[in-house]
Amino acid sequence: MKIAFFSSKPYDELFFRKENEKYNFELNFFDTNLSYHVVNALEDEIAICVFVNDIVDRNVIKILAKKGVKIIALRCAGFNNVDLEAAKEYGIKVCRVPAYSPEAVAEHTLAMLLTLNRKTHKAYNRVREQNFSLNGLLGFNIHKKTVGVIGTGKIGKAFIDLMKGFDCKILAYDLYPDEDLENSGVNYVGLDTLFKESDIISLHCPLTPENKYLINKTTIAIMKDGVTIINTSRGGLINTIDAIEALKEHKIGYLGIDVYEQEEKLFFQDLSAEIIQDDTIQRLMSFPNVLVTAHQAFFTQEALEQISEITLRSISDITTKGKTEEIVML
Ligand code: NAI
Repeated sequence: MKIAFFSSKPYDELFFRKENEKYNFELNFFDTNLSYHVVNALEDEIAICVFVNDIVDRNVIKILAKKGVKIIALRCAGFNNVDLEAAKEYGIKVCRVPAYSPEAVAEHTLAMLLTLNRKTHKAYNRVREQNFSLNGLLGFNIHKKTVGVIGTGKIGKAFIDLMKGFDCKILAYDLYPDEDLENSGVNYVGLDTLFKESDIISLHCPLTPENKYLINKTTIAIMKDGVTIINTSRGGLINTIDAIEALKEHKIGYLGIDVYEQEEKLFFQDLSAEIIQDDTIQRLMSFPNVLVTAHQAFFTQEALEQISEITLRSISDITTKGKTEEIVML
């Protein structure tokens, strides 16, 4: 049985080939993103395996069905890039990796926060040039700060655990508050209160049509002056143009993003010799108080092992038993 991987990188091949020793699927790795044109090249694959920036829309799904593909396996948690209705209509099962080391993403969120706050990225460059001055490196204590966490699922929870280590006051917002977290001293509040009272805001909810541009000029306006915002969730949660305006007005004090609305044209590629056409990300990267990482929050040894393990097991379960625990529900 053949599986075609799209947007594949050397590390995907490494981890999946190792895990496949248990299954013996025929694995074909393509470094191109999945698209309407590429999908025509498929032959007799039973499954395709895609990542965050592969667009699996109705047009693509229609051809997948014609080619006999039965499974779309996302090697990530989010599935906003797949047209689930179309997949259902064409009888294609969709599975994902709902949880692979939430700690990996939570720890990267903290790394972004500490880098922005203590400016270690700037200090690293400075001392290499024998500039041992501290001017411009002033940070603030995270200890006892109020941290607003939007989305208290697996990653949000892991991040809250880390922030409790700094003795922070945690405000949380989720459509479905978690009783254990409430009992542990986390205060669930309305979004307005969270925006008004938080020194640091971290996004850990999925992107849905309802929460697109959750962070926009209206919500930023009610935040504290100098607020720190970290987004390791999905780019579309922040209206980037509004965030740029707020950075220019010193309303946002620090912004850390591991995800970006238009990231599919940029991330996971080496564009160091190219002329970047996206002026918005260029403007964003020009701010001294903005840190951009290219969707690397998940990128740990442990997470890649779990991703390959769960993905191949799901494909195997669907082909042998017709179902898997990791199926995406409609
Ligand atoms: P999860 O499903 O465990 O938790 C998501 C939580 O968000 C749930 O408690 C849910 O009730 C809540 N939620 C849903 N809609 C909401 C809304 N409109 N407002 C507030 N809360 C809402 O998901 P998990 O594993 O914690 O992942 C969270 C997100 O992190 C994913 O959706 C994905 O976008 C992102 N992610 C990013 C990665 C990276 O490398 N940067 C890697 C993995 C996930």
